[in-house]
Amino acid sequence: ADERSELKDKIRRLLKEREAVLVAHYYVDADLQDLAEETGGCVSDSLEMARFGRDHPARTLVVAGVRFMGETAKILSPQKRILMPDLDATCSLDLGCPADEFAAFCDAHPDRTVVVYANTSAAVKARADWMVTSSIGLDIVAHLHAQGKKILWAPDRHLGGYIQKKTGADMLLWQGSCLVHDEFKGVELDLLKADYPDAKVLVHPESPANVVALADVVGSTTQLINAAQTMDATTFIVATDNGILHKMRIAAPGKHFIEAPTAGNSATCKSCAHCPWMAMNGLRNLAAVLENGNNEVFVDPEIGKLAVRSIDRMLDFAA
Ligand code: 13P
Ligand code: SF4
Repeated sequence: ADERSELKDKIRRLLKEREAVLVAHYYVDADLQDLAEETGGCVSDSLEMARFGRDHPARTLVVAGVRFMGETAKILSPQKRILMPDLDATCSLDLGCPADEFAAFCDAHPDRTVVVYANTSAAVKARADWMVTSSIGLDIVAHLHAQGKKILWAPDRHLGGYIQKKTGADMLLWQGSCLVHDEFKGVELDLLKADYPDAKVLVHPESPANVVALADVVGSTTQLINAAQTMDATTFIVATDNGILHKMRIAAPGKHFIEAPTAGNSATCKSCAHCPWMAMNGLRNLAAVLENGNNEVFVDPEIGKLAVRSIDRMLDFAA
């Protein structure tokens, strides 16, 4: 057998031996997504990953995704052992929102309800009133706006701007962005649409406003996969990390998926439609952490106790 199938067999065996469960995001390697599903774990968006990890009885969770996903799992289940294939898998939104600068920003605006995106450090979540993911951020801000609350939002400016426009809420925005979604180009997308007049456009709301403006559906990764499956169209243009295409093709066989245009391979394209940190998760390092138990995620328990309140608010709202 080739190395790939040997590693997959080894991972299946070790997951059983270690009584561990694999929780994967749609942007990681297709083999890892398939393994998560076939071994009784889950592959999903950030909201479902958090909920699944919290509710699953396994004492060890292996999170194939980026750092904030492992930290959220640990915050929700401090008694569980959380492992990740690579602890250096971070996120440009997390990197762009240091906890000390964020705390100063909050201190300067004490009249605002602090809502942070899941893609942040535990310390930033600890300073927040609410944590939200892309699948539910709009509903939660609409709810807070209806109560007359003014919002301080961090860190993704595109998602924040989109929610602000949709809800009319008073939102003060931190100016972070996702280096993958920031590369999608509105003008080029408009030209591509002209080539495929029957195509539906699926967009993740971390994309720039002129890309979101051309969308037929805006949503989290799970919501975009559901749209691909249920919408009455055969061709879709997809503006999110291309790791999602694996699941879209399984969910909607016979349909045709086209990647939305990025800055291409020009010098300015830092990451053409694939997250460099999600790409750090592979069969080899997954097998290695299962074997040696390295790469455990720890969160300062005091920070965890504060952060869990903002996450639980979202989970209770979603329930
Ligand atoms: P989802 O919650 O939509 O899966 O998004 C997570 C993420 O990192 C998107 O870039
Ligand atoms: Fe962060 Fe963007 Fe990567 Fe998602 S795709 S983990 S938002 S850098």
